[in-house]
Amino acid sequence: MTHAATAVPAAPKSAAQATVPARAPLLSVNNIEVVYNDVILVLRGLSLEVPEGEIVALLGANGAGKSTTLKAISGLLKTEDGEVTRGDITFAGERINGIDPDAIVRRGIFQVMEGRRIIGDMTCQENLRLGAFTRSDGAVKNDIDMVYHYFPRLKERTGLAGYLSGGEQQMLAIGRAMMARPKLILMDEPSMGLSPLMVKEVFSIIQRINRDLGVTILLVEQNARMALQAAVRGYIMESGKVVLDGTAEDLKNNEDVKEFYLGGGNEERKSFKNLKSFKRRKRWI
Ligand SMILES: Nc1ncnc2c1ncn2[C@@H]1O[C@H](COP(=O)(O)OP(=O)(O)O)[C@@H](O)[C@H]1O
Ligand SMILES: [Mg+2]
Repeated sequence: MTHAATAVPAAPKSAAQATVPARAPLLSVNNIEVVYNDVILVLRGLSLEVPEGEIVALLGANGAGKSTTLKAISGLLKTEDGEVTRGDITFAGERINGIDPDAIVRRGIFQVMEGRRIIGDMTCQENLRLGAFTRSDGAVKNDIDMVYHYFPRLKERTGLAGYLSGGEQQMLAIGRAMMARPKLILMDEPSMGLSPLMVKEVFSIIQRINRDLGVTILLVEQNARMALQAAVRGYIMESGKVVLDGTAEDLKNNEDVKEFYLGGGNEERKSFKNLKSFKRRKRWI
């Protein structure tokens, strides 16, 4: 399924562009359904596409199904008794649903889990080596230096990772993902629990990794403002489905997105489903 907002080109293509065939997205999730414990239906026909080289934001309130979507892609649902019961997930042209998580890492997808999940009683370097578990090449040492280049403060922290600050632990979790040399990193709420200054720093590093190393990123966030600044396009999900998608620019200017996701207030988020404009939009989603 293609969403209209991404399928319709914003401007007419020039003759030169028109001759270039459209490239298939690196990742495509087609109409998937996810069930936990055989009974709890959480994703209800979710579709999204991540073009190679882009940062794509996946936004939505708590409980919408964002983490479930990432775990469906990385194969980690299995560890929580979850299953993709319908639909396809295609990565680099091949169907990957049902494949073991470590085989998915070998294919080039690495998930940075919510809450970092670094090993507190190991050093930074030992944590980084864990990220390279699928690799047998001799470049692991070089890549540790590469990670330290992006995160110089990790090099200074020689003690146990458990003593790092929240921001440093997030950096370590991202560094560990880089050690797998992935094509696609799935990031689950990297800004969670961090100070505004640290959020800025982590986001700027995410953008550098994308730009310098060409790593494609699917970024799950509740901090819609930061995510839409970093991303090229975004999807908004609610109750296990995408309710809106478009370029980051369009989403930032969308009145409903502004009201529900970019507003500074603490007012409870209403549902897109209650909006008249949602009904209108629904036809082309
Ligand atoms: N392991 C699980 N078993 C059963 N239900 C789950 C499990 N994990 C998540 N859920 C449920 O799935 C829904 C979506 O959760 P989640 O994907 O974590 O949302 P989000 O990341 O958007 O906050 C929630 O209602 C949550 O309670
Ligand atoms: Mg989550």
